[in-house]
Order: sequence, then structure tokens, then C-alpha cells
Amino acid sequence: MNDVLYINGRFTTMAERVIGVEDRGFQFGDAVYEVFKFAGKRPVFLADHYRRMDHGLREIEIRPPWDESLFAAIMRELIARTPFDDGIVYVQVTRGEAKRTHFYREDLEPTVVAYSRLFTFPDAAMKERGIRLITTADLRWKRCDVKSVNLLANTLAKKKAQRAGADEVLLLDRGAVREGASSSFFGVRGGVVVTHPLDEHILPGVVRDRVVRLAHAAQIRVEERPLAESELFDVDEAFITSTTMGVMPVAAIDGRSLRRGGITPVLQHLLDEDEQRDATAVSFAGA
Ligand code: PDD
Repeated sequence: MNDVLYINGRFTTMAERVIGVEDRGFQFGDAVYEVFKFAGKRPVFLADHYRRMDHGLREIEIRPPWDESLFAAIMRELIARTPFDDGIVYVQVTRGEAKRTHFYREDLEPTVVAYSRLFTFPDAAMKERGIRLITTADLRWKRCDVKSVNLLANTLAKKKAQRAGADEVLLLDRGAVREGASSSFFGVRGGVVVTHPLDEHILPGVVRDRVVRLAHAAQIRVEERPLAESELFDVDEAFITSTTMGVMPVAAIDGRSLRRGGITPVLQHLLDEDEQRDATAVSFAGA
């Protein structure tokens, strides 16, 4: 057995088919999700993921199926039952199952699933190589701060990147650089780190938030403003952040190579330390 699945209050495995055909998550994308990392059996930045999911649930009027301590207890048990030490947990809460109609009932019991997956996080060699980005139009909905499962615009954009021999796609919207299709984006110009402000155009990345705080604490200047598409040609270095990639240097954007080194490796190192601190603190709090 290689996976553990939590569904509506019990543990099973992925071999059990558990979702109803008329579950609103399946038919309407009426659901939010989270992806968090665990390392050495310890969840990383779990409280931040809980807070973001709680925000998303409330914004789309799904009754949260847990409070923070129940959420943490379920996730810790899931990781404890998992036969490997390092990986990711995917959590999804849908509005629930009911006869198909656009009008949703307010009394539905949410469907709750969470499962663990083995995941190999990028090593030093991969970080040294960095990733290649292409740019494309941002076709997503207008509430990107909600981590909804409606990822069609993201997956189509990612496929475009893959076909172009790139790893990630940078989403452009009316002349502004928003974020990656599954990552936050940072450009560095003249020693200043620039990243999109928190609003409905981007997902409030858990790692983004950590990196902004770490940069402030290390006296690195951060400007939270949308980078103009035209400024992309002027960035000295760039990196993306996400739960699965951490701080990942960008080697090239639309085929133009970027400078390596500088501020990116400093933030990479600070994030690694922060992850370790957080994982240890969480495990003590839950002991
Ligand atoms: N994606 N922006 C988007 C659109 C994302 O989908 C993600 C994460 C991020 C980074 O957020 P965080 O630092 O909280 O991981 C930014 C996850 C990993 C996914 O969909 O698999």
C-alpha cells in the first residue's frame, strides 16, 4: 500500500472509489483545495495552509468542516499512517453531493478528501539549473485569491509551456505580470525584489508570504506591485515560489537567459531554514 486517503471522517486507500457522480466538486468545480508539504513526517507551514483554505471556504460559502485543531489532528494522523516520510498532502473540500442544479443548497454536507503522495522535492542540482518560463495570457477567473479547483486555464497554459520545452508559464494580464500557473513570481531589479501585491489577481502563496517576510527581516528591499510586462526585459534575476518548488531560480524567460546568483540563493537558504523551524515547532505543538 502506497497511499492513504481520508474521506469524510475515515481512512481508506485510493483503491476505494469514493466520490459521487453528482458531487458538486466533480460537476461544477464547486470546491477548494490545498497542497502542503511534509518532511521527515512533519507538516510544513500547516497553519498557513489552514488559514488560506478557511478564507477560500468562507468566500464561496462552504461551511468549514473543521476548526484548526481538528484540521491539524486529521492531517497529522494522515501523515502518521503514510508509509513514507517526505511528500505532499492534497486536501479538497467540495460543497457536497446533490441532484445537479446550478442553485446550491445551503444545508449540504461538504465532501472532504485528503491523501498523501510521495514527492521528490527539487535538489541542489535542479536549483542550480533553474527553470525555464514562457509567457502567455492569463485566462483565469476574477477571484484568483480563492484556491478553487477550476484549473482549466492553468492546465492549458502549463501544457503550452511543456510543448515549448519550458517548465512553467508566466501569466500576463493587460500588461501586468500576475504569477505562474502554479507558482508565485518574483523579479529582482537593481537589488529590489518585486512581486505582485495580494489581491484577487493572484493566489496568496504560502511560500510567497514567507519569502516576503524573510526578505524584510534580512533587510532586502521588497516592492509589492505588479511588474509591467515591459519590465520583464529588465529584471536581473527572477525566481518562482511554491510548496513543491520552494524558491526556484528562473534560468530563462521566453528564451532570454537571466543572471544567476545574487539575491535568489540567499532567499532559498532562508526559506530552507524557515521550513525546518516551522516543521519542528508544529510537531511540538501537536505532541
Ligand atoms: N500550486 N499560484 C498558483 C496559481 C498556485 O497554484 C500555487 C500553488 C502558488 C504557490 O502557492 P504556495 O506557495 O502556497 O504553494 C501560486 C500548488 C502547489 C498546486 O496547485 O499544486
